[in-house]
Amino acid sequence: MANDVTNNLNNLNLEKCDSAGKEDDEDIVNPWNVVSKSETGVDYDKLIRRFGSSKIDDELIARFEKITGRPAHHFLRRGIFFSHRDMHQLLNLYEAGKPFYLYTGRGPSSKAMHLGHLVPFIFTKWLQDVFNVPLVIQLTDDEKFLWKDLKLEEAISLAFENAKDIIACGFDEKNTFIFSDLTFVGQCPEFYQNVVRIEKSVTFNQVKGIFGFGDSDVIGKISFPAFQAAPAFSTSFPFIFGKSKLPCLIPCAIDQDPYFRMTRDVAPRLGYNKPALLHSVFFPALQGAQTKMSASDSNTSIFLTDTPKMIKNKVNKHAFSGGQATVEEHREKGGNCDIDISYQYLRFFLDDDEKLKKIREDYTSGAMLTGELKKELIDVLQTLVAEHQARRAQITDEVVHRFMALHPLVTKSAT
Ligand code: TYM
Repeated sequence: MANDVTNNLNNLNLEKCDSAGKEDDEDIVNPWNVVSKSETGVDYDKLIRRFGSSKIDDELIARFEKITGRPAHHFLRRGIFFSHRDMHQLLNLYEAGKPFYLYTGRGPSSKAMHLGHLVPFIFTKWLQDVFNVPLVIQLTDDEKFLWKDLKLEEAISLAFENAKDIIACGFDEKNTFIFSDLTFVGQCPEFYQNVVRIEKSVTFNQVKGIFGFGDSDVIGKISFPAFQAAPAFSTSFPFIFGKSKLPCLIPCAIDQDPYFRMTRDVAPRLGYNKPALLHSVFFPALQGAQTKMSASDSNTSIFLTDTPKMIKNKVNKHAFSGGQATVEEHREKGGNCDIDISYQYLRFFLDDDEKLKKIREDYTSGAMLTGELKKELIDVLQTLVAEHQARRAQITDEVVHRFMALHPLVTKSAT
């Protein structure tokens, strides 16, 4: 098997990567599974080496700030978006006056999205604001129908519901197109034509090597990666880009990278630039970085539908603590922020750097107790989720239809 995989990867001339996310070390990172045996979670530096991507370093962050004239988002400053592919090339083109577009997505497998799903969308919204570029968002209802125990109609309706949560992140309607695969394929021949071009460029052996598909997987799964790849090619959206071949930037968590390694390999053969990528780390489960968040166990995460009381109870009962067993011991030895989930969640959602620094100092020294740290997190999350819910309540079906209608976007040139 190992030899097969190596051959497959060589055949596809893929960027350095492992098959299906795992080779000889213990972290598993692929679109279906993110599991680590370490209390501190996945070793992301190691993952950069395994996947052959590049670290987002101070130089790149400074470049972002120079080009946009805006301070870097705290996701960049804190290493939450930690890895990239070809960002410097994309920024070179942007500075030379060549605009790009953003592409991201969601697999609508459940009605309620969790906080982890918000991470790429919050960041994408920031990118859209600071670069003033068009954005396409793919809802892979076909993927979830193929992978999950869902009826086709359910997958389509979940895509529509999830679109409301996504729109509630504040995207600009004039510059954002949202589409679901099961509907869009019938509306736009050029999208499906690109899918077929991609399908002709990748063999079964190659997708087996990348995604680990086996003989008993249904054939829909085998061709699905071409559907996730096609939006990275601007000619899939003629009503937005005409026939122009615009560079594409994809923000996502690192689990989606296998799809885009394949896309990047195919791109030059179809006459495109390879899409650039920005990868985020994984937002951990409440029980700790070794546990998987699960839609079927609502206690593993905070959902965008949770009430203030649910948030309070979940954090108090389930958030893994890096504190000591007794108050006396905690005051003496202090807590460990690196494994404490309340602190880790604050890194994602408390944007005040000074306050976060003070919390880290106080918790590490033992001046702050676990209950006090949890209270900080509960306040932040209750506000975040309530604000999200208020915005979502304004999103009518009519608004979703407008985002999902085939409409031109403002494709301004870079200034
Ligand atoms: P899905 O629905 O699993 O996830 C949607 C987006 O959220 C990211 N994500 C997370 N980020 C941080 N912490 C987590 N715990 C966490 N869980 C999920 C995912 O990486 C993703 O960015 N096949 C895709 C849908 C898709 C897509 C795309 C995603 C289609 N085209 C282009 C990104 C870019 C999926 O099922 O995502």
